[in-house]
Amino acid sequence: MTDIGACTVTVLDVIEETRDARSLVLEAPEDVRDRFGYRPGQFLTLRIPAAGGSGTARCYSLSSAPGVDPHMKITVKRVSGGTGSNWICDHVRPGDTLQVLPPAGLFTPERLDGRLFLFAGGSGITPVMSIIKAVLARPEGSAVLCYANRDESSVIFAAELRRLVERHPGRLQVVHWLESVQGLPTAAALAALAAPHADRDAALVCGPEPFMDAVADAMRDVGLPRERVIVERFHSLTGDPFAEPEPLPAASGGDAGARVTVTLDGERHSLPWPSGTPLLDVLLANGIRAPFSCREGACSACACQVVSGEVKMLRNDVLEEEDLAEGWVLGCQSLPVTEDVEVTYD
Ligand code: FES
Repeated sequence: MTDIGACTVTVLDVIEETRDARSLVLEAPEDVRDRFGYRPGQFLTLRIPAAGGSGTARCYSLSSAPGVDPHMKITVKRVSGGTGSNWICDHVRPGDTLQVLPPAGLFTPERLDGRLFLFAGGSGITPVMSIIKAVLARPEGSAVLCYANRDESSVIFAAELRRLVERHPGRLQVVHWLESVQGLPTAAALAALAAPHADRDAALVCGPEPFMDAVADAMRDVGLPRERVIVERFHSLTGDPFAEPEPLPAASGGDAGARVTVTLDGERHSLPWPSGTPLLDVLLANGIRAPFSCREGACSACACQVVSGEVKMLRNDVLEEEDLAEGWVLGCQSLPVTEDVEVTYD
């Protein structure tokens, strides 16, 4: 059986944040805790059990911050008809255990001591909260947060944000946008709001798709360069990332395959790479715990950079032109094009 790195964590507490949002405080067992180091803004992938045994999986952002909160915490808001969010809100209790994949994701600022511009829509506040706490825990760095919600009762972390603003005067500014009062946040309205802050080092955006598109347009209009805007896009998963990867095909005379050199956690590995097998599957089958979450090109948890050689991707729903130009590829979707390929995860 291939060890794909899934772990069982214990639910220490369930916190009711709003009428339809809960936070789960989680603890990983001592012997795998080193796999649960994370960066602010990353997410966990949870197995959602289903009657009959075949489960599904969902990604939930961590709202806790490393070095600030003693335990990991994810925050989940009910989605109408949503399998994962409703199961969590209805069934998960303190003392329960959950199967998860270690933290992953690229929605994290390059520097925590810079001047950030943060945009959150609804439960998009979850990874943004993690980033805010991580920034404020340092002696330098500041954040302006634009936080859009349907109405006042749906504002997650309202009291905690108020406390942080009071405790860190001048370093955190929160601008609430309530649809019940101001209507939907349009690109033009967001650009007007953003104009005084257009010289910020980077903007990070998480929320519903139309909100993120409006923010991206607003950032373009106020002149913040595209490469300084980081957007978190989640797609619903259709497969089961907890499933065993397919065994590697035996080498055949007609398919010499390629060779890949991989740098991960400071170690270099050189492996044969069968031409029809995604890079991630090759690594997992060889006992190398490469990061991943969805295994279907939808989350970027498996992103790595091509150092030399060429690969092609079967599917890519998350990397943008700028990422591809910098050599980023999705390990779970990459097949070799050239005979020799070198990639790095570090
Ligand atoms: S694991 Fe999600 S894109 Fe590869």
